[in-house]
Amino acid sequence: MKLGLENKVALVTAASKGIGFGTAKILAQEGCKVVMCSRSKDDIEKARDSISKSTHNDSVLALPADISLEGDLSHVLQESTKRFGSIDILAYNAGSPKVAAFLDLSDEDWNTAVRLLLLSAIWLAKGVIPAMREKKWGRLVFITSMTLKQPIRNLVLSNVVRLSIAGLSKDLSEEFGGDGITSNVIMQGNILTGRQRAITEDFAKRNAMTFEEAERARIREIPARRFGTVEEVGNTVAFLASEQASYINGASLLVDGGLVRSVL
Ligand SMILES: NC(=O)c1ccc[n+]([C@@H]2O[C@H](COP(=O)([O-])OP(=O)(O)OC[C@H]3O[C@@H](n4cnc5c(N)ncnc54)[C@H](OP(=O)(O)O)[C@@H]3O)[C@@H](O)[C@H]2O)c1
Repeated sequence: MKLGLENKVALVTAASKGIGFGTAKILAQEGCKVVMCSRSKDDIEKARDSISKSTHNDSVLALPADISLEGDLSHVLQESTKRFGSIDILAYNAGSPKVAAFLDLSDEDWNTAVRLLLLSAIWLAKGVIPAMREKKWGRLVFITSMTLKQPIRNLVLSNVVRLSIAGLSKDLSEEFGGDGITSNVIMQGNILTGRQRAITEDFAKRNAMTFEEAERARIREIPARRFGTVEEVGNTVAFLASEQASYINGASLLVDGGLVRSVL
């Protein structure tokens, strides 16, 4: 796809692996200047090298940062601005919260999840919106989860805390829509990543199945009869960031192969 994103500055968080990595790769392919961050310095630098090589794009900056720490995110924004100028596209992605049932969660677990899955998005939005307003152009894309539509057992932290991102995005779409900024949410289903493989392993153990049997059973539940790819999420981010999507604002979009059965 050529979406007219050449030289736009895109920040992708939690990006050394999985969905964040796929998103950074697609945006680099589209010609964006990409800033990518996650906690491990080694992993994010390896990810940058791999993306630069496969996309022939040298404008990729890798920064170690824990998105649940406000200071780390300020540093990312400062360094990005120094290297490429202000952020045009925020592709917000997060790490995964603890998997546990409601009664097994402590206040500390809830606090940690709020920092990881909500405050991080607020800090980033606060950091990038002022320059977007000045430019009269900006794209906020919040990659969350299908748990916004349909809770998943033992993912109570995701079910509850991530839902606030839908409210945040809707609020931002209203407040800043007149400044040429759009704000949208992606709710992805089962996307094939390391985390998804771990979920299948756990499913196999709990149901006394082999990994392959568990994978087949999980795939049977998906109308598309396969897991999604990280590039399919990245392509959706790139589309929402493009001029072609300029009238999509305040939307929450499932990218799940039909997994969520609700009509609306
Ligand atoms: N895969 C799916 O099917 C699926 C479905 C719905 C929702 N999700 C959600 O989508 C997000 C991405 O999932 P994924 O499957 O791509 O995960 P993944 O393959 O495990 O990758 C997670 C990425 O996030 C980074 N990360 C983790 N904690 C971080 C933190 N505190 N600060 C900065 N970076 C952090 C990791 O690098 P470091 O460890 O080095 O920081 C890694 O790059 C997660 O929130 C997950 O819960 C995934």
